[in-house]
Amino acid sequence: MTASRPPSRIRLGINVDHVATLRNARGGARPDPVRAALAAIEAGADGITAHLREDRRHIIDSDMARLKAEISKPLNFEMAATQEMLEIALRTKPHAVCLVPEKRSERTTEGGLDVVGGHNHLLPYVGALAEQGIRVSLFIEPSEAAIETAARLRVPIVELHTGAWCEAVATEDRAGDTKGFAQLQRGAKLAQSAGLEVHAGHGLDFDTARRLAAIPEFVEFNIGHFLMGEAIFVGLHSAIQEMRNAMDEGRGFK
Ligand code: PXP
Repeated sequence: MTASRPPSRIRLGINVDHVATLRNARGGARPDPVRAALAAIEAGADGITAHLREDRRHIIDSDMARLKAEISKPLNFEMAATQEMLEIALRTKPHAVCLVPEKRSERTTEGGLDVVGGHNHLLPYVGALAEQGIRVSLFIEPSEAAIETAARLRVPIVELHTGAWCEAVATEDRAGDTKGFAQLQRGAKLAQSAGLEVHAGHGLDFDTARRLAAIPEFVEFNIGHFLMGEAIFVGLHSAIQEMRNAMDEGRGFK
């Protein structure tokens, strides 16, 4: 009888973009995404992800520099393949860069990178980052063509976009759920057999992360928006109690 290998734990990367979204809604310094990153690491996160967008709508340049300087776990720098971002990434020297598509008008990253059409554009970015020892990941749809092209680009990692599947689950679209899950399962297998490390992310919540974790090829999940929203409800009670205490202390009740 051959002993089966015990499953390894999936790494959890925490995306802190939306702490910065909340900060920027008011201006000023709070809430601080770096503080959130430190709290995430204390809670067991294996790495921190942040997306420096062209329009700086959430993470700003100084956040990225502070994340790199202050966190003790790997920093995954998400960015579009532009000259400006490449220069910042080369200066920042993160552990990894995840190349993502970016449209100014989108609310969030819609769909994966067009690696097939964009192969020649991406090639020098992959080369320049790899040359500096930065692990490059491509955020792609779980399609055969995208995975094969990623392997030809010789990146070590692909992150499969789980957004469409998560949307199908959220809207109780059963056919979309079944199809999306099967695509991710096939995609993860294909990517791993092409020698790629397989990550996943976008729109994951407790339920979808639990289901996806059963696919053995996945090595890392990157999760942000849902967790930041959930943290409000987990933390609101104690934050309000602390305020109550502060006010009572100030008035001399304590
Ligand atoms: N992975 C990538 C490549 C992303 O672009 C995002 C969203 O910025 C995420 C993971 C995290 O997605 P969410 O915030 O929906 O959990």
